[in-house]
Amino acid sequence: MAPFGTYTFPEGFLWGTATAAHQVEGHNHNDTWYAWEQEEGRILNGHTAEVACDWWGGRWREDFDRAQAAHQNAHRLSIAWSRIQPEPDRWDETALDRYREMLIGLRNRKMVPMVTLHHFCEPLWVAEMGGWENEAVIELFADFVKKAVEALMPYCSMWVTINEPDVFVYSAYVDGVFPPGKKDLKTAMKVMQHMVRAHARAYHVIHDLQPEAQVGPALHYRGFKPATWLPGDRWAAKVFHTLFNDLFPRTLKDGLFNAIVAKERIPEAVGTLDFIGLNYYCNDMLRFNLFAPKDLFVRMYFPKGSELSENGFIANQPAGLIDCVQWGAQYGVPLIITENGIEDSQDVLRPKYILEHLHALWRVINNNTPVLGYFHWSLVDNFEWERGWTQRFGLWGLNLETQARIRRPSVDLYAEICQLNGISSETVGKYAPDAFSGIFPSES
Ligand code: BGC
Repeated sequence: MAPFGTYTFPEGFLWGTATAAHQVEGHNHNDTWYAWEQEEGRILNGHTAEVACDWWGGRWREDFDRAQAAHQNAHRLSIAWSRIQPEPDRWDETALDRYREMLIGLRNRKMVPMVTLHHFCEPLWVAEMGGWENEAVIELFADFVKKAVEALMPYCSMWVTINEPDVFVYSAYVDGVFPPGKKDLKTAMKVMQHMVRAHARAYHVIHDLQPEAQVGPALHYRGFKPATWLPGDRWAAKVFHTLFNDLFPRTLKDGLFNAIVAKERIPEAVGTLDFIGLNYYCNDMLRFNLFAPKDLFVRMYFPKGSELSENGFIANQPAGLIDCVQWGAQYGVPLIITENGIEDSQDVLRPKYILEHLHALWRVINNNTPVLGYFHWSLVDNFEWERGWTQRFGLWGLNLETQARIRRPSVDLYAEICQLNGISSETVGKYAPDAFSGIFPSES
């Protein structure tokens, strides 16, 4: 007989999905990403966010209904600075009303809201002042946070200050695929410092307004594995880990911004962490390559034989989530998985990916690591930045022309997990039989 049982998660565990303003709302012409999308060659296939999932037009209601009916008890969304402060000296109260309505909408559906204050986007006027390169952004961001939190704190007490400073800095200032499209390490490090300081300022602004608030960043964790034991590969993996994963949270711990070649004390950052949000998708193998200065002297790839997503963007590596959580645990605060998911329009690999990652998460939680919740990326297909609409991360699919939602099998799989607060052998057998023996091994 096949083994059966249930891996149960801690009581009160948060089960939700995550989204971000620009990716789902649609029609925001005052945003850095809108302008970026109008430039030729910036987005794959010339795609633009357009109406996206039409949340600004009100379709958040039907999507929240879907999430609630699928037994999710939490949702992570972001608010757009460019809508709330369209000009330096103008606040748009109607935009705040709209976000207030969304948060009330979540509360009415018995879903705990988590709000991200910066998710890759700024108002155009901020970009015109030099964006994150200009130190002035720290106070400007703090003003925005004050205004937004004052308005929304009756409905929310979990705040993510900045989403993935590591990915933002890398993509916007090293790889050049996010606006402003620079490729300059020195500027990248300056921006990173400004983001640490902006996080610290925001942390205190929020706590002054709402002492019971829970505030943290959402960090993208990437395991960098040296391709061989050769010193070059090991050194490259270590440097990437230090700069990409460690730099931001270490500074919040030690007050020392240590970017190997540039060091700076930021004492006000110490202790500005109530939790860490962890975004985990997969790891990379790294091979040192002296002839690739443009790629920071490395070649990155997935190991041969990896199970890959539809466009080869993500590999199914659930053990990496254990490394990620163990890495996060060293900072001594509770952890929340704020993103995890896979692009898969046909829902071929997603059920297995979800089940294997949640099984890995259960294992690490049972090893006494405090993880408070899991937010799957994403509720519904949305605009995937420089990759446009070519990648589909939603539990629900989206037909962009008709705005119809397509129910993928993973909706029901995830609903079973949320409802049970656990992973049952029945669920695994039903949705990902090929993952069964790995998750429920028989004794013999
Ligand atoms: C970002 C999301 C994005 C997801 C999948 C994360 O890096 O926070 O905005 O959609 O990855 O690409």
